[in-house]
Amino acid sequence: MTEMTDFANEYCMHDHTCGQLRLPDVGAQVTLCGWAWHTRDHGGLIFIDLRDRSGYAQVVVDPDCVSPEDFAKAEHMGREFVVRATGTVRARAAEAINPNMATGEIEVLASSVEVLNTSVTPPFSIEDGIETSEDTRMKWRYMDLRRPEMYRNLKLRHVVTTAIRNALNKRDFLEVETPILANSTPEGARDYLVPSRPNPGKFYALPQSPQQFKQMLMVAGVERYYQVARCFRDEDLRADRQPEFTQIDVEMSFVQEDDVINMMEGVLQEVLEAAGVEQTFPLPRMEYSEAMERFGCDRPDVRFGMELVNLSELVADCGFGVFANTVKSGGVVKAINCKGAGDWSRGEIEKLNTNVAAPNGAKGMAWIAYTSSDLELKGKSPIIKFFDEATYAAMKTALDVEPGDLVLFAADSADVANAVLSALRLHMADALNVPREGHALLWVVNFPMFRYDEDEKKYAAEHHPFTHVLKEDLDKIESDPLACGSYSYDIVMDGFEVGGGSIRIHNAEEQKRVLRVCGVSEEDVEVKFGHLIHALELGAPPHGGIALGLDRLVMLLAGRNSIRDVIAFPKTSSASDLMTGAPNQVTARQLKEVSLRTL
Ligand code: AMO
Ligand code: AMP
Repeated sequence: MTEMTDFANEYCMHDHTCGQLRLPDVGAQVTLCGWAWHTRDHGGLIFIDLRDRSGYAQVVVDPDCVSPEDFAKAEHMGREFVVRATGTVRARAAEAINPNMATGEIEVLASSVEVLNTSVTPPFSIEDGIETSEDTRMKWRYMDLRRPEMYRNLKLRHVVTTAIRNALNKRDFLEVETPILANSTPEGARDYLVPSRPNPGKFYALPQSPQQFKQMLMVAGVERYYQVARCFRDEDLRADRQPEFTQIDVEMSFVQEDDVINMMEGVLQEVLEAAGVEQTFPLPRMEYSEAMERFGCDRPDVRFGMELVNLSELVADCGFGVFANTVKSGGVVKAINCKGAGDWSRGEIEKLNTNVAAPNGAKGMAWIAYTSSDLELKGKSPIIKFFDEATYAAMKTALDVEPGDLVLFAADSADVANAVLSALRLHMADALNVPREGHALLWVVNFPMFRYDEDEKKYAAEHHPFTHVLKEDLDKIESDPLACGSYSYDIVMDGFEVGGGSIRIHNAEEQKRVLRVCGVSEEDVEVKFGHLIHALELGAPPHGGIALGLDRLVMLLAGRNSIRDVIAFPKTSSASDLMTGAPNQVTARQLKEVSLRTL
C-alpha cells in the first residue's frame, strides 16, 4: 500500500507525523500531534507514546528540558489525551532500541508539551486484537476506528476503491450517479421503503442495486458506465451481509460475456497489485453445474479438497432402503470424506447431524467412521450391514478411504444433498483446521436462468430477470424454464461471491416473456417495468455488466471474516447502529406529514 506523502504535514498543526520518524531525522526539530497512548514515569523522566494514524513515536519529557508547567502536564497525562509536542529527534541508546516499533531507533526529546484536549477514561484499550464485545466496539465506533488495525482496513478500502476507479477511468468508463430515492427492483431481498410526503400513500424504494438505471444508461448511449454505488437490502444479516453495502457497479454496451469477464479481470489484476496480493491471470472458469456437483454450492472455496462424491449410480440397487429409494425417486446420494475425523466419537458425529446437516434440510446423516487403527478399513457404522461386499468396496474406492477417515452421506434431492454437504464440508474444514492459505479466485459461469421457489410456488430468476437466456434455450422459456441457461457469471474468492453479472435482455419481447414466467402479471409488467420495456423498444444496444461487492472484496484482502471490519459505520445483526441509535422513533407529527401511523 502507498505510504503517506509530505502533504500529510501541510495545512495542519504538526510538521511531521508520529510514524514517519527514522534515524536520518536525528537532530531535526519536529512538532507532532496525536493521542497519548501509553505514558510511563521512569525515575523523573516521562515517556509518552504519541500515536496518530501513521504510527507512534516515543516522546521523552525531561524536567531539565521543558518548563515546570509543561512537565506537570506530562505528569498528569491521561490515556487518549490529545497532545501537541515539539522537540528534537535523537537516537536511542543501543539498549533502548525497540526493534518491534517502526520508530524504535529514535525518540523525541520534548521542548514543549501542549494538551489540546483531555479525555475521559476510554471504554476499551486502543490496541489491535482486543477482545472487547462487538457491541461495545460498535457503540464507541470512533474509538474502535482509532485502533491501528481498523485504520489499516479503512486505508486498504480506500486503496482498493482508488485502484478500481483508476482502472475503469483508464478504460473509458464514465462514473454516473443514479438515484437513491428509486423504485423497487427485484434483486431478491426486501426493499427499504421511504414514504413520499407530497404523494400520500406512495413510497420510494431504496435501490437494492442500480440495475435498471445502468441499463437505461446503456439505452442512453453512455456505453461504459460505473459507479461506486450504495445498495440497500432488507434481508437477514450475516458476517458477509449488511443492510447497506457498496457495489462497484459496471455496465457496458456492445459486449458479450467474454468481453465483460476479460475487462473485469484486467481491473482486478490492477486492484490486487495495488493491494499487494499476487494472483495469476486469466482466472479459471467453472461451469455452475460443475461447482454444484463437486462442491455443492455456486461459490466454492477451492483452496481445499474434501469434494462431494456422487454415489447415486453405485448405491441405486443397494440394500440400504434410504439410499436406494432416494435414487429411485430421482434424488441423489452424495458423500464427503473428512480425513482426520475417523476417531471422532459417535456423539461428536451425531452432533454434526443436529447442528449442521438438519438445519440445512437433511432428513438424516448417515456416516461411516474408519478409526486410525482400522487398517483393514472395516468401518464403524450402523449402515454397513446393509451393503453387499462389492458395493461396500466400490464405495470405499470411490471415496478414497484410508484409516482415520470419516465419511458423511446425504441422500435427498440434488438441491438439499448439495446444501447439506456443502455446509458440512465447510464446517469440517474449520473443525479439522484444514489449511486455507492465500486466495483463490475463479469465475463460476452459466447459471440456470430460473429456479423454482418452493415457498412462493413459482419460478424466479436465478440471477435477476433482466438476464439474457442462452440463445439455444429461447424457445424453452415457457415450456421448460428450468432447462434454460443464461449468460451469467459470478466471481468467487475464497468461498465468497464477490461479484456477479450477466449479459442482459435487450429485446422487449424476451423481457416480457421472462417476467411472465417469473409470475409478474401483465398489469405489473406495464406498471413496474413499463419504463424498461419501452427503453428496450427504443433501440437498446446489446449490453451486459457486473457488480463487485466492495465490502466483501476488501474484507478478504484485509484477511478479516466480517465485512463489518471494513465498513466505517456498520450495522449490527439486527440492522441497528449502536452509536447513533438508528433506527429511531419519530414524532407523531413527522408520521402525520408522510400520512403514516404506526401499529
Ligand atoms: P448481486 O445481487 O449478485 O448482483 O450483487 C452483487 C454483489 O454485491 C455483493 N452483495 C452484498 N454485499 C454485502 N451485503 C449484502 N447484503 C450484499 N448483497 C450483495 C455481493 C454480490 O456478488 N445488479 C446485479 C449485478 C449485475 O447483474 O450487474 C446485482 O446486484 O458481493
Ligand atoms: P434410519 O434407517 O432412518 O434409521 O437411518 C439410518 C441412518 O441413515 C441414520 O444414520 C440416518 O441418520 C441416516 N439417514 C436417514 N435418512 C437419510 C438421508 N436422507 N440422507 C442421509 N442419511 C440418512
